Amino acid sequence: MKVPLSKPYVDQEIKERVLEVIDSGQYILGKNCRQFEEEFAQFIGVKHAVLTSSGTSAIFLSLKALGVGRGDGILVPSLTAFPTVEPIFHVGATPIFIDIDETCTMDPKHLEKILKTKGKIPRVKKIKGIIPVHLYGHPANMDPILDLAKHYGLFVLEDCCQAHGARYQGKRVGSMGMAGCFSFYPSKNLTVFGDGGILVTEDGALAKQCRMLRDHGRKEKYEHELVGYNLRFNEIQAVVGRLQLRRLEGFNESRRRVAQWYSDGLKDVPVITPPVKDWAEPVFHLYVIQTPKRDELSTYLKEKEIQTGIHYPIPCHLQPGTENTLGLQPKLKRTEEVVKKILSLPIYPELEKEKTDFVCTSIKEFFIKG
Ligand SMILES: Cc1ncc(COP(=O)(O)O)c(C=O)c1O
Repeated sequence: MKVPLSKPYVDQEIKERVLEVIDSGQYILGKNCRQFEEEFAQFIGVKHAVLTSSGTSAIFLSLKALGVGRGDGILVPSLTAFPTVEPIFHVGATPIFIDIDETCTMDPKHLEKILKTKGKIPRVKKIKGIIPVHLYGHPANMDPILDLAKHYGLFVLEDCCQAHGARYQGKRVGSMGMAGCFSFYPSKNLTVFGDGGILVTEDGALAKQCRMLRDHGRKEKYEHELVGYNLRFNEIQAVVGRLQLRRLEGFNESRRRVAQWYSDGLKDVPVITPPVKDWAEPVFHLYVIQTPKRDELSTYLKEKEIQTGIHYPIPCHLQPGTENTLGLQPKLKRTEEVVKKILSLPIYPELEKEKTDFVCTSIKEFFIKG
């Protein structure tokens, strides 16, 4: 029985609406894009949403519009997708890496410690902001992070690329910081069959600036108020996004059900299953277990055609592309331990119980065989 790690949802209605857009003759930043932005903003519960070419560009545009640049430091977890961190470098700033708590999201206690004791970090003149990442679809512990941000006068930019629809204390992720950034990459909870992203914010001026920057700094068709970029979105993917958004709550409910099947099925197995905090409504973009026998287990599951992943085997502060540019960084004990043990099991809305049972039985077999 083949079990893929993830699988995007598609149906006949989505295919038909894509064909309609092809016939419409309007392809870039048109009616569907505007409607998708309005609908997404409403779903998150904020005033503005700006579609972009990817989650990475949503983070980049937000940092640019927030005026982040050379000499600035941004506090960010190291256990995240590398694209959380890349835009920090691209605007000329420096990431300062923070450890994780047991949910694998930013540890507010470590964040506080670093803010209190910040030593000299090369190239950082002033710490400007915090990027918590709602990793695996579980929200970061936002209240203490927002309190610290307020106390130290920092902005909070939420990386929601893995957490469309997740809630923290009843509030949607993306609605708590200065802005929130989402990705529509094919494996995500909401996908558009290609690259895509969106940023959401309550701040009209920030949204306006991002809108201009994503489209060559345009104010009018031939008037460029800023030197911007081409990080636009398109109509075909917007119509897909609109239809997927209508199904998102159902997808997330199915993902939570799949996660529960795994957690029940793995109760008596010597692996750590993902904790869910009582203030969290997670959306299980990934279902990540932990075991010191991770590599052997993943090989065993591969032989049974069960696909697994590691998110992420190398934390950002140890990546060859950044290591030599960072200078002295805080020690990240939990992050460095966890990356040796994490293993992502298959999860997607249409995953059948029969398949999760097969995955659980195979994991049990692995440990019995020792
Ligand atoms: C946590 C996180 N941040 C940022 C990104 C970047 O999104 P994209 O691939 O759409 O640029 C991703 C997706 O890979 C992600 O998972």
